[in-house]
Amino acid sequence: VQTFFPRLVFSADGDDRDPRTRGAASSRPEAGDALQHAQRVIAVASGKGGVGKTVLSANLGLRLAQLGRRVLLIDADLALANLDLMLGINVTYSVREVLEQRCSLEDALAPGPHGVTLLPACSGDESFANMDNLSRIALFEAIETLSRRFDTLIVDTGAGIGSNAVSFAAAAEQVLIVVTPDPASIADAYAMVKVLSRRGRLRFNLVVNLATNTAEAERVVDRLLTLVDQFLPSVALVPVGIIYRDEVVLRAVRSCEPVLQSFPRSGVASAISALGDRLIREPVGEDTGGPNVFWRRLIGLDAAGPEEGC
Ligand SMILES: Nc1ncnc2c1ncn2[C@@H]1O[C@H](COP(=O)(O)OP(=O)(O)O)[C@@H](O)[C@H]1O
Ligand SMILES: [Mg+2]
Repeated sequence: VQTFFPRLVFSADGDDRDPRTRGAASSRPEAGDALQHAQRVIAVASGKGGVGKTVLSANLGLRLAQLGRRVLLIDADLALANLDLMLGINVTYSVREVLEQRCSLEDALAPGPHGVTLLPACSGDESFANMDNLSRIALFEAIETLSRRFDTLIVDTGAGIGSNAVSFAAAAEQVLIVVTPDPASIADAYAMVKVLSRRGRLRFNLVVNLATNTAEAERVVDRLLTLVDQFLPSVALVPVGIIYRDEVVLRAVRSCEPVLQSFPRSGVASAISALGDRLIREPVGEDTGGPNVFWRRLIGLDAAGPEEGC
């Protein structure tokens, strides 16, 4: 388990120094990348809330846009939708208005920094789970037409194994589990992996956020990998990055700007950039079909969420 921990995960260029001491990663789109136009859907999930999913989604979106991807960020945290705030975008409409036929899906799309586009969800008690089948299909048919415009979807999901985060994550190709050193977060991340594994997902990427040092982050990874090895032997949980607790995140959140924009030379920006570089180099499987298949899976899924508890 120990040897599984990749000390090089901070960087795509083999620089394994502490990310806090490194300069900002280059924002040049890479040349000759065979996967440049691979279609992919990345769901950012956790068990517990407040672990940094939204911070990560917003900044990953920015990084992938810097790398030339056409990024659609989907705010799927229906209880606490705040991706718009973290991106500094004023949104007028959300999926709620689309469902109520007060605007088109096109109207709900909001342009953000570096060319990312945001699809705001609805806050409050509204949820896809409460939609009747006809409106669900109508919505997803409309959404499917977006597939041509975006090659990369990043879905910021809500917390909790009972939420429809499970449906979103089960339908995505890449699932990024965010965990913090908080024992409750570790337990909830494990529960999320377990529930998703029952839905057929057997590979996950793991990011430790809010670590105060490397040893602490390694303990978190070891703990989760040990649990998974022991109780979910068919699951591959791949540690892909550490993001340290850093006040630049608080300052960026307060100023409604992504860290990559406010503090591009910070360790947090470097770590998230390296993570983005790594994620888009991961091949997407043969059987996945990008955003289209993602939406179809969502339409086909039981809206009630996970069939089994943990
Ligand atoms: N690496 C970090 N360093 C310091 N504070 C952070 C970091 N990541 C997240 N935070 C703080 O945690 C808060 C919650 O993050 P958020 O992304 O909204 O969590 P989630 O979406 O998982 O509920 C943020 O507003 C920010 O203040
Ligand atoms: Mg959030």
